[in-house]
Amino acid sequence: MNIAILLSRVRVEEKLLLKAFEKRGQQVDIIDDRKVVFDLHQNGWQQYDVVVERCVNHSRALYALRILNDWGIRTVNSYPVALICGNKLETSSALVRDGVPSPACKIAFTPESALEAIEEMGYPVVLKPAIGSWGRLLSKVNDREAAESLLEHKQILGSYNHSIFYIQEYIHKPARDIRSFVVGDETIAAIYRYSDHWITNTARGGKAENCPVTPEINELSLAAANAVGGGVVAVDILETQDGRFVVNEVNYTMEFRNSIDTTGVNIPDVVVDYILKVGRGEA
Ligand SMILES: Nc1ncnc2c1ncn2[C@@H]1O[C@H](COP(=O)(O)OP(=O)(O)O)[C@@H](O)[C@H]1O
Ligand SMILES: [Mg+2]
Repeated sequence: MNIAILLSRVRVEEKLLLKAFEKRGQQVDIIDDRKVVFDLHQNGWQQYDVVVERCVNHSRALYALRILNDWGIRTVNSYPVALICGNKLETSSALVRDGVPSPACKIAFTPESALEAIEEMGYPVVLKPAIGSWGRLLSKVNDREAAESLLEHKQILGSYNHSIFYIQEYIHKPARDIRSFVVGDETIAAIYRYSDHWITNTARGGKAENCPVTPEINELSLAAANAVGGGVVAVDILETQDGRFVVNEVNYTMEFRNSIDTTGVNIPDVVVDYILKVGRGEA
């Protein structure tokens, strides 16, 4: 099989994936997204049965996948999945469309209408850039004064991305959230991410612990993955005070370095098996 991996840097995850391919005697071409040039009129990638996308940068991932998929090349993940997961507004809308439980969410296009929406939702609320990750630029807004000044900052100092106001209900979760890993039609593992901070990302110091994949977590994770188009995704789940689970977001170039020893599941092995299945046209 001919396989390429498109990446920005060989991070821990990429190293683990390459090792898993090697174990199967599968050679993989490594393509650096800093060097790549796509000639739209000349498909130079047709020899590949599947391309694995592992870019750090969302725009590079998104547009590379768009071009590859338009050329008819199978990718993990696909362009539509990257488009939806890379944007919290798109993700939330898809989750609601499919009836997947998720926090209350309002979208507004001006600071004035955003303030009205926030007041109506009640404090605290969470404001997020639609496109972003690693817990960056998230704001928990506790009162009107903070809301007013934050909206002004976003309007005057923010980029285009900040002119769309994504307003989410704050979930009074325990000092943790849940991250589940979906590969194809299976929830292969899950972790709790514990933190004293309300932002629990492991990139921000959250500590990972194994979380048993109960039937409820499995079903919710698969429903969330399906809503965004499936593939290899990581689902952020929040626990509400009354014991419900809601899906916060879904991630498409998932990081899993902290979750292999924690869960005892060889995540790269499972991901590689799935990629080979896609390459054979079986998934
Ligand atoms: N509405 C919310 N209520 C409570 N905690 C939240 C909420 N939104 C985000 N968080 C916390 O912040 C973390 C990062 O938010 P998330 O939406 O996943 O953004 P990112 O794409 O940066 O990971 C979540 O894992 C969770 O711990
Ligand atoms: Mg997240």
